[in-house]
Amino acid sequence: MTALRIVLLGKDGQVGAALQPRLAALGDLVAHNRATCDLGNPNQLRQAVRAAHPDLIVNAAAYTAVDKAESEHELCWRVNAEAPKILAEEAKAAGAWLVHYSTDYVFDGSKAAPYVEADLPSPLSVYGQSKRAGDDAIMATAPNHTILRVSWVYGLAGRNFAKTILKFACERDELRIVNDQFGAPTSADLIADVTTDIARRFIAPVSDRARGTFNVAPSGRTSWYDYALALVREAKAQNWPLKLSQDRIVPIPTEQYPTPAQRPKNSVLDTAKIRALLGTDLPAWQVPLRDFVARLSHP
Ligand SMILES: NC(=O)c1ccc[n+]([C@@H]2O[C@H](COP(=O)([O-])OP(=O)(O)OC[C@H]3O[C@@H](n4cnc5c(N)ncnc54)[C@H](OP(=O)(O)O)[C@@H]3O)[C@@H](O)[C@H]2O)c1
Repeated sequence: MTALRIVLLGKDGQVGAALQPRLAALGDLVAHNRATCDLGNPNQLRQAVRAAHPDLIVNAAAYTAVDKAESEHELCWRVNAEAPKILAEEAKAAGAWLVHYSTDYVFDGSKAAPYVEADLPSPLSVYGQSKRAGDDAIMATAPNHTILRVSWVYGLAGRNFAKTILKFACERDELRIVNDQFGAPTSADLIADVTTDIARRFIAPVSDRARGTFNVAPSGRTSWYDYALALVREAKAQNWPLKLSQDRIVPIPTEQYPTPAQRPKNSVLDTAKIRALLGTDLPAWQVPLRDFVARLSHP
């Protein structure tokens, strides 16, 4: 069997960096960052994909500055809505499979239960609207696609809540953290593992079973406040030089932490569909978090 030809966009992001070594082990990988392929440049994007003659396109690039997007609508839209449409067109023309990542921000968070894949999107922010438009374009254009819907992502590469809390815990003696938004902290490694597993088992050779949208999240749920508490507790157990003590993490309602973009209060994703596809359970959110704190070098 000839090696799978894979093109990865967004190789330096949280998910992209976790994907790189895993996808390289699956076949011939061409990996791009913004310097070599700007998703805001349609011609460059088409050329990058065509030059790779891919069997599989993985798009881990996105405009993820959620608050900035409220005032940078056009750029956000180009990267999150228009670029995925181009990728879908190129995937269709090349007969390639397209893997893309969606977000909990396509929902308004008003549902009392975890969101299932079939729930109707109703985004509250420009970022959420742009991601929804990207998902819709892929569904309408690329017959062979997998959209993995993820939330609350953290990883060793890039910026995220977990790294920020750990940094602040070494520098500050009090933190005020929102306690009325719920989700499941999701490691970029878990997302990359699921992506690779799907590629290995259902994309090469091609199987109908991987087509569509799948929620990916660890099991359990928490608030940002309890997530911060878990991070600080873990860092303490691992002998980080903390300035912050757990009792100085103060829970606050969303109203006391206003942001330009409105966030969904419920970001919990139901994962029954992906667990049925993979035939396996997903870890409790605390398990990969422990490993993450251990691998992160502290000051
Ligand atoms: N982070 C989360 O909590 C979260 C939650 C739900 C869904 N998601 C989705 O998961 C996927 C991966 O997210 P992530 O957390 O890995 O994001 P990330 O760490 O912000 O990485 C995104 C990557 O996209 C690149 N990028 C942005 N604009 C670009 C452009 N015009 N051309 C080329 N590359 C560009 C960024 O490069 P630069 O560094 O140069 O900007 C960055 O390397 C995205 O689809 C995101 O929407 C993320």
